[in-house]
Amino acid sequence: NWTMEEFIGKEITRIREICGPKGRVIGAVSGGVDSTVAAKLMHEAIGDRKVVLGTKCRLILTPISQTYRFHAIMVDNGVLRMNEAQQVFDMLNKDLGVNLTVVDASDLFLSRLDGVEDPEKKRKIIGNTFINVFEEEAAKIEAEAEEEEKKGAEAKGRVEWLLQGTLYPDVIESISFKGPSATIKTHHNVGGLLKDMKLKLIEPLRELFKDEVRALGRLLSIPAPLVQRHPFPGPGLAIRILGPVTRDQVKILQQADSIYIEEIRKAGLYDQISQAFAVLLPVKAVGVMGDARTYEQVIALRAVQSEDFMTADWYAFPPAVLKRISSRITNEVSGINRVTYDISSKPPATVEWL
Ligand code: XMP
Repeated sequence: NWTMEEFIGKEITRIREICGPKGRVIGAVSGGVDSTVAAKLMHEAIGDRKVVLGTKCRLILTPISQTYRFHAIMVDNGVLRMNEAQQVFDMLNKDLGVNLTVVDASDLFLSRLDGVEDPEKKRKIIGNTFINVFEEEAAKIEAEAEEEEKKGAEAKGRVEWLLQGTLYPDVIESISFKGPSATIKTHHNVGGLLKDMKLKLIEPLRELFKDEVRALGRLLSIPAPLVQRHPFPGPGLAIRILGPVTRDQVKILQQADSIYIEEIRKAGLYDQISQAFAVLLPVKAVGVMGDARTYEQVIALRAVQSEDFMTADWYAFPPAVLKRISSRITNEVSGINRVTYDISSKPPATVEWL
C-alpha cells in the first residue's frame, strides 16, 4: 500500500540509483499519457532543463554543447492528428521542461505506405519504419555523446538506457499471451536497438494500471486534456483511412477528426466517451451544392464506451450534437459531402475499422 506521492519519490530515487551519475537515457514519446508520464518522471529524476531554441518543432537539433542525460524522441509519422507533433513538442518542452526532439519522418512513412491498403501491412510498415527512424536518432545522440567523451569536458556519458512506458497490463500480456494482440504492440518493439546498442530497459510504470498512470500524470502537472485523452493507435490515421494513404487523404481525415473532437469537447461529452474518431471511407457518393451535383467521399464517425476495449458499446449522442458535427464537416472539409454514424458494438464489430 502506497500513495501516489510516495510512488513518485520512490521511483525517482530508484531511477537515480540505477542510472548513477553518468550515462544517457533515450525514450520514445507518442503524445499519449503513458509515454508522457514516463518522460516527465525521467526528467524529474535525471533531466536538466532544456533551453528552448525556437517555437517550431521542425528541424530543431540539439547543439552538441548543450548536453542532456535524458533525450525524448517523438517521431512524426505523417499520420498523426492535426498539429499533433507541434502540440506535443510545445507541451513537453515548454510546459513540462522535458528535452524532446521531434523528428519529421512523414515523407519516409508516406512513401513506404504508398499504394498499401492491407491493414496489417500498414501496421508492419509503420512499426518497422518507426524503429528505423528511432534507431537513427538514437545513433545521432550516441555519436554526439562519443564526441563529447573525447573532448572530456562536461561529459554525460554514453547512451545506456531505453525508457519505456510499459504498464502492468502490458507486462502481463507479454508474459501470458502471444495472440493476435501481439501485433498491436509491434510499433513499440525496439528489441534490435536493445541488442545493438546494449541498452538496458527502464520501465517506471510497469507496476501501474492506466488509472494510476493518470493520477500520477496529474500529480506531475501534466495538463488535464492529455491525462484524460482517448487512446490513439500507434499506426494512427493510416488505419482510419480505408483506401490508399496519401497526404491529401490524411489532410481530409485530420480536418474531419479535429472538428469532430472539438464539437465533442464543446458539448462536454469527451470524458463520457472512451474513444471517438473519424474514419475516411474510400467510396464516393453523390451530393448537391448550389445547382451542381458533387461526387465526393464519405466520413464515418465512431464513438464508443468501454471498460477495457475488449467489448464496447456505440455511444448514443444527442441528435443535436451529431447534426452540428455533420453540418460542420460537410461545410468545412473539402472533399466530403456525406457523414454517417457507426452504430455497431464490439463484438461483432471492432472499435477501429481496420
Ligand atoms: P479494436 O479495433 O481491436 O481496438 O477493437 C481496441 C483498442 O485497440 C486500439 N488499437 C490499436 N492500438 N495499434 C495500437 O496502438 C494498433 O494497431 C491498434 N489497433 C487497434 C484501438 O484504438 C482501441 O483503443
